[in-house]
Amino acid sequence: MNRSDILTLLFETPTAELRERAQEVLAREKGRHVFTRGLIEFSNVCRRNCLYCGLRAANSHPARYVLSREEILAQAALAAARGADTIVLQSGEYPVSAVWLAEIIERISKDLRLPVTLSVGEHSRADYALWREAGAARYLIKHETADPDLYARLHPGWTLAGRVAHLRTLTELGYETGTGFMIGLPGQRPESHADDILLARELHAAMCGVGPFLPQKDTPLGRYPGGTAELTLRVLSVLRLALPWANLPATTALATADPAKGQTEGLLAGANVLMPSFTPVSVREDYTLYDDKNRVDIAGAIRAIEAAGRSHSLKLPD
Ligand code: 5AD
Ligand code: SF4
Repeated sequence: MNRSDILTLLFETPTAELRERAQEVLAREKGRHVFTRGLIEFSNVCRRNCLYCGLRAANSHPARYVLSREEILAQAALAAARGADTIVLQSGEYPVSAVWLAEIIERISKDLRLPVTLSVGEHSRADYALWREAGAARYLIKHETADPDLYARLHPGWTLAGRVAHLRTLTELGYETGTGFMIGLPGQRPESHADDILLARELHAAMCGVGPFLPQKDTPLGRYPGGTAELTLRVLSVLRLALPWANLPATTALATADPAKGQTEGLLAGANVLMPSFTPVSVREDYTLYDDKNRVDIAGAIRAIEAAGRSHSLKLPD
């Protein structure tokens, strides 16, 4: 599959045909099961200033928090009890104590016997190695856009090449590495999504999360229009064809762009993963990547999976 094949699929193939092909590949490669990641957003502290993101360091609105080790372990135990297949520990990018995080990883992977996925930004090779040693199996770090000029404009002081180098380091260290990107960023050419897909394929990404850009009012991009659910779903289907092996989530951003059926539509377009939130209610409102963030909970995940006619291992509280 080359760039021009991908462009044809993205912008010419009728939606029904694209979806049917994605569903065929999904059924063959992944079966009917939908995996669930229990998402714990353990801190919103961030040193970066990504132009699109409400957690950017320059934004003084959110009250900054870091959950305690005990709070994180309690949420992880809750996610395990509800049938989550893996725990995702997510935060802004901040100088987290590597040893503190390693201990938490060890407790979750040894005591709860759940694989741990990290989504905590760029760190040193030594820290990545320590967390791998502690039991972290997967690492998510999105390339966000494969257009190097746009990447540089959105992330002042950082480069796409640097980001890709981190992805490669993580793979070298034995992580299952996940990337991802946004749809409809201000200044993004729709054709550049072909490059996003090719980059994910070249990295042989084990996971790829794709969601619409959604404006957050306290950021420099707060007045731009968001990306559409429609294009996001087409990109998701093409990803399923181009990366048949990959775990593809129906993202929270997709659920926010289309609150009624975003998750179900994502599953029907080729996704096989959902990420219900296990972030404590007391801090959720401060994890404001974008406005009107839709919180996907267990009940919502079960409804979405069943509406898509698929299976899961989730359990509601008695
Ligand atoms: N719209 C959509 N997604 C966003 N993210 C951050 N800000 C936004 C936004 N305004 C996503 C990015 C990042 C993850 C933490 O959240 O893809 O990787
Ligand atoms: Fe920080 Fe991530 Fe938001 Fe960038 S996208 S400002 S690194 S939390």
